[in-house]
Amino acid sequence: MIEMTGKIYIVGIGPGASEYLTKKAIDTVKMSDYTVGSTRAIDLFDDVQNKIAFNVKDLLDKLEEGVKLAVEGNTVSILSTGDPGFSGVLNTVLRLSDENDFPEENIEVIPGISSLQLAAAECHIQWDNANVMTFHGRENIEDILPVINNGKTTIALPSRKVKDMAQFLLDNGVEADREVTVCERLSYPDERIVSATLKDIADSEFTYMCIIVIKP
Ligand SMILES: C[S@@+](CC[C@H](N)C(=O)[O-])C[C@H]1O[C@@H](n2cnc3c(N)ncnc32)[C@H](O)[C@@H]1O
Repeated sequence: MIEMTGKIYIVGIGPGASEYLTKKAIDTVKMSDYTVGSTRAIDLFDDVQNKIAFNVKDLLDKLEEGVKLAVEGNTVSILSTGDPGFSGVLNTVLRLSDENDFPEENIEVIPGISSLQLAAAECHIQWDNANVMTFHGRENIEDILPVINNGKTTIALPSRKVKDMAQFLLDNGVEADREVTVCERLSYPDERIVSATLKDIADSEFTYMCIIVIKP
């Protein structure tokens, strides 16, 4: 069988609401033969040809299916929340492409607005001067400790429940009255932005979809 190499677009879809989709993302999905993403992500687009929806359990299988379709010559969009390069699927797709002999020069990344950018905008933070961190899907939460008192605002994707992260900071000597803002479900109709002390945040419940902002 003769294999033709297609194209993979790794498309950032922004924080969730369709108003944060870029025109480039919309146009790319429209002309793709296949679009791989969560149902929530795919549903943001009006014009999608063949949909390949994944959930947490079959994420890797569906991403690989997308890569294999590209190896066969198709144009495939792979959707990533926010920006693909910030705790997104970029590295995973690069690895799967390499394993399936799909050439990296046929991969294009379409940036999206990261949830972290939107959190910074909502909180009026000049984020080039912030500690920007992600603990999503990782257990390196102690990496926050060397920077938490360096005089800068810390903006982070939490690794676990927000309250557990706040408790971890309290347990490690961060002051209970430290000012924290939790940005939950940004851009969705039920968006919630809560500013409180670290102690109060440790006593509160949030969904997993949060950015935590800790003031200096
Ligand atoms: C797999 S990471 C993806 C991050 C994404 N690449 C980005 O740039 O925003 C998922 C985490 O991002 C954060 N997140 C994504 N969308 C969000 C939103 N609309 N509001 C708040 N946090 C969000 C949450 O911490 C969530 O657990």
